[in-house]
Amino acid sequence: MAETELDSFRIVGDTTIGWDANTPVNETVDDDGNFVGSGGFGVHDPRAPSERVYDHPEVQALREEYKKHNGFKGLEICEPHELDRIAKIFRRDGFVVVKDLLDEPTLARFREGCEEVLRQILSIPGHQGRKYITETNRLPHRYSYGTASASRHMMHHPVWAEMTDLPTTTPILSRIMPGYLVSGGGGDLALPGAIEMQHLHSDGFDVGANGDVRLKYARESGYKMFEEGKTFDELDIRLQRLVLELTPPSMTINFAMTDLTWENGPIRQIPGTHTTMQMPPKPADEPDWMRWSALAGAPAGSGVFRDHRAWHSGTPNLSREIRCLPNLEFVPPWHNEQHYMKSMPHEIWKTLTPHGKEICRFIKQEAGVWPFGAGVMHPLTNERKAANEASREEQY
Ligand SMILES: [Fe+2]
Repeated sequence: MAETELDSFRIVGDTTIGWDANTPVNETVDDDGNFVGSGGFGVHDPRAPSERVYDHPEVQALREEYKKHNGFKGLEICEPHELDRIAKIFRRDGFVVVKDLLDEPTLARFREGCEEVLRQILSIPGHQGRKYITETNRLPHRYSYGTASASRHMMHHPVWAEMTDLPTTTPILSRIMPGYLVSGGGGDLALPGAIEMQHLHSDGFDVGANGDVRLKYARESGYKMFEEGKTFDELDIRLQRLVLELTPPSMTINFAMTDLTWENGPIRQIPGTHTTMQMPPKPADEPDWMRWSALAGAPAGSGVFRDHRAWHSGTPNLSREIRCLPNLEFVPPWHNEQHYMKSMPHEIWKTLTPHGKEICRFIKQEAGVWPFGAGVMHPLTNERKAANEASREEQY
């Protein structure tokens, strides 16, 4: 049989993957794959070109605009050993870019893992002439390794397991989230031709609960400004706000598999928004400076440490290269134990470093039980649900 683009594609470099002109702009699908106008994360981009064609005049015009303007101005890119600087930027902006997190062999293994799983997602043929099935409630050509997995995470995969304890990231995480634990992992993908801008959103809204627990944690983390002996309610409003700001309920690292450029759809981040209770602007109301805040310039092997509360989104991938940002998610030690999903098989957990075992202890499934749905990838919610339930029934 002739080799197809799915057999031969690579995460790095030009590919024929994506750019499916038969997938209408802004189209999304429901839980069963029926075509619907919008839903969930499939919020329309009012500025998107009318056709998903690489050299269509409207795409060319958008590309020109991006070439001229796109990219976070003055983006600071740290080195892994700059712990003070990294912590300061993370607290101030709600995200920080650090380069050189992965050496070449590690980066090569991560890319291979990302290719293998993407191949699985794209090998399911699209409906009614489309090249691929769009993921439920998302914009076309955008997938999440996490939500496309029937276990909701990728912690059954050796590559994601390897992310749990890297010599470069462990010291940084220990500094910015002392006592952290792993809650899961996945990450997102923008195929070439994902021409719609994703809407700005938070990955975790802070309801401001657990004030006293967070105050105690802030003191234990070394923040000296909170007077001993006072409860959270006894603090003045500015200090209460500071407690919440300094204790993110969750965070993530997204690893860049390729150089992020003005053209290949990097994540964009709006600085300082981890501290706001306001909702981000709707796509039509976004000012240009927010549109152009993609983290262009971050090289392959770097990572974005993100406070989940900060506003961010995927941006249009106008290139011919896949933009792939696998991630690992973390929570502080005061995270409610009941909310962990058991997504890591015991057999994988056993292969981890002692520190890796420690921080993954709450996501580990018991010996002899396979995490429900792990290994099945599907863009459609109801297919994933069925796979998850079947695996649950099979084992119990
Ligand atoms: Fe997000």
